[in-house]
Amino acid sequence: MEVISDPLGWQEAMEAARRRGQQVGLVPTMGSLHAGHLSLVRRARADCDLVAVTNYVNPLQFGAGEDLEAYPRDLEADATMAASVGADVMFAPSVEEMWPVAPGTTVHVAGISDVLEGECRPGHLDGVATIVAKLLSLAGQCRAYFGEKDFQQLVVIRRMARDLSLPVCIVGCPIVRTTDGLALSSRNAYLSSDELDAAPSLYWSLLAGKRAIEDRGETDPAIVAKEMESELGRQPHFSLEYAAVVDPETLEVPVRAEAPVRLLIAARLGRARLIDNLAAAPPGASE
Ligand code: PAF
Repeated sequence: MEVISDPLGWQEAMEAARRRGQQVGLVPTMGSLHAGHLSLVRRARADCDLVAVTNYVNPLQFGAGEDLEAYPRDLEADATMAASVGADVMFAPSVEEMWPVAPGTTVHVAGISDVLEGECRPGHLDGVATIVAKLLSLAGQCRAYFGEKDFQQLVVIRRMARDLSLPVCIVGCPIVRTTDGLALSSRNAYLSSDELDAAPSLYWSLLAGKRAIEDRGETDPAIVAKEMESELGRQPHFSLEYAAVVDPETLEVPVRAEAPVRLLIAARLGRARLIDNLAAAPPGASE
């Protein structure tokens, strides 16, 4: 599998593929690939002719004091893994190649970027939207695959692509979990073995919220969120940042959960900040 670091070379490779009549499937990542990323590559492989993976740890989406320096990086291992599930080409630029001149443009998707992750990590979603706009602009017409684990990120990217009429079809893909429910994340690498044992509680608290809506018919979002919070509270190692019940498109908290909703949770566990989410639909409303 070819690895390209020059943005112009990458742009040319994507254009050449389209000239050959190939549909491009783009999988944007920050490297440190795991089975969740590989599921995106496999999906792109099934749908498209050319599978293009980007591998760039984006400084714009890390706040002061976050883990930019510590973020795991291993280009060789990533290239081997991506190739093993059918990726054709990888884009792995340095920060200097990506931005020979520091960016003067920021993409901000108002409203949906300002809540939840937007409150806990100010500027994070602007950093994501800005780099994804650039990656999509370099790739040109394509299908682009993102995991639902970063659910708010996916909603922001969809909206950004629609607002800017980018020639891209954004495809959301299901979360990949360990057998005990922990959503796969590159940041799980920060967890000690005791913390790894505790980590699935995040998922269990989402399940508690889902049961409240689907089995008990609870429609008050505050009561459901409280339920999630108290389930996580059984696990003392976690420090909760938010538990929320939101409309899956607007990310607003509905007055009543009477249509399908998304349950979102974020919490700290040791050195790691973990997020997870789950769909829930009240009886009679299909997801
Ligand atoms: O989800 C990620 O890995 C990153 O946020 C993304 C979309 C590649 C942008 O840097």
